[in-house]
Amino acid sequence: MSYTHSVGERGHRRTVVGGAAGVVALVLLAAGCGAIPGSVTSVDDVSFDQELAIPPLAESEVIDGVRTFSLTAQEGTTSFAPAVEPGTETETWGFDGAYLGPTLRAERGERVAVDVANDLDEATSVHWHGMHLPPSMDGGPHQEVEPGGTWHPTWEIDQPGATLWYHPHPHGATEEHVYRGLAGMFILDDDATRAADLPSAYGVDDLPVIVQDKVLDDAGQLDLTDDGAEPGTLGGVVMANGTVGAFHEVTTERVRLRLLNGSTARTYTFGFPDRSFDLVASDGGLLEAPLELDHVRLAPGERAEIVVQLAAGETTRLASTEADLGSVAAPFAMGGNDAFDVLELRAADDLAPSPEPAWGPSQHAEADALDPDEATVTRTFELDERRINGELMDMSRIDEVATVGDTEIWEVRSTVPMPHSFHVHDVQFRVLSIDGDEPPPELAGPKDTVYLEPRRTYRLLMRFQDYTDDAVPYMYHCHMLRHEDEGMMGQFLVVEPGSEATPGPLRGSH
Ligand code: C2O
Ligand code: CU
Repeated sequence: MSYTHSVGERGHRRTVVGGAAGVVALVLLAAGCGAIPGSVTSVDDVSFDQELAIPPLAESEVIDGVRTFSLTAQEGTTSFAPAVEPGTETETWGFDGAYLGPTLRAERGERVAVDVANDLDEATSVHWHGMHLPPSMDGGPHQEVEPGGTWHPTWEIDQPGATLWYHPHPHGATEEHVYRGLAGMFILDDDATRAADLPSAYGVDDLPVIVQDKVLDDAGQLDLTDDGAEPGTLGGVVMANGTVGAFHEVTTERVRLRLLNGSTARTYTFGFPDRSFDLVASDGGLLEAPLELDHVRLAPGERAEIVVQLAAGETTRLASTEADLGSVAAPFAMGGNDAFDVLELRAADDLAPSPEPAWGPSQHAEADALDPDEATVTRTFELDERRINGELMDMSRIDEVATVGDTEIWEVRSTVPMPHSFHVHDVQFRVLSIDGDEPPPELAGPKDTVYLEPRRTYRLLMRFQDYTDDAVPYMYHCHMLRHEDEGMMGQFLVVEPGSEATPGPLRGSH
């Protein structure tokens, strides 16, 4: 039996098929044909009449040379109309507001600090996804903030300009905290992004677009019931920055969308029905040059900066079409056949000119570059349903110990026909190869999270730099958050050469 739920949407009804149970029978039925038409969600069933919410840029104060932000995790209520009746308020969580959080923004070379406060009734944390920083500042499960508590991480921004993000990472509860709304963007600038010919007016032609899907129950409340579906809860309500059926008035010839898959489980394939776009940056910063694409796949945690061109008076929609999930057991049950619109772009009758996307290398490009010939260590990570190398996450166990300064190759492979999204803290890696072949060009840029097509070997090149700690680990894990919470995570230390730290029970304090 396959689990089906329907989401009513003001006169429309759409069905998303989910559930792993009974999938085998359906797989057999599906064998040989690419898709089951009935499980494809309609792409025109929400009216796009809500203005896209733009998370405000976070205020900051430079105190003794440190750019200092503050973020408070809190409860609130949000209207997700038209997915619910107007007037229905949904209980949500947010940073400094009811849902999501402000966009933090800082420049390479700056020292930043964040005054984090937790006004929730339970412990949470704030992890700086994609950031290179000391492990004690990372905001993982070892840096939880108790209810009523505060936390004051500080670090120096030393990595390329990029679209990063922040979200909670409490042990075993990350899925719920992100799903309720705790997440925001963290944009980094550097000499290359500053000088680039790219749309860069925040909220005007340079838009944060945090895409998430939800299940809303009959009372309009967020539903995170674990019905056994893989890879987690797949919702029929899709939102951008918390706006369902969002539109944005475009006033320039080109817009830059900073796409973040902030969903807990769903993998998207973003594109437009009537045009291609330029991919300009992946998770960790600019590509070498703009890459023209028709669509880009983003698994939970991944980002893409794209630039799309519009003619005066035109309207188009960012959509997510059927996602190629690789050889997963039952693509239709894992969201692979779902298709829907996400964001409508409405071009004004007069558009201000935008330059062709172009940029040069950063002054840091050479120092940032990774060289596979320098790799001295290769590690292997095998992912099954929930375990990595046969182990479930244990906060008191160190799984890997790396030496600072070393370049390493991580060979990562999902051994089961199930989607996983592999994320490594502290570094931006390069995808060297997939099953020995060059990665597709959209995976050639700096990455911190990568979708793992089942039974393929991804060789990831990374270098550990600057920060060491014999007692406080970084994490690597599946970014499908139910998988992560259920144990699909491991811990690694980065240590000085000659350190006695070894894999095994975590010694010392944190
Ligand atoms: Cu975005 Cu360890 O997570
Ligand atoms: Cu996973």
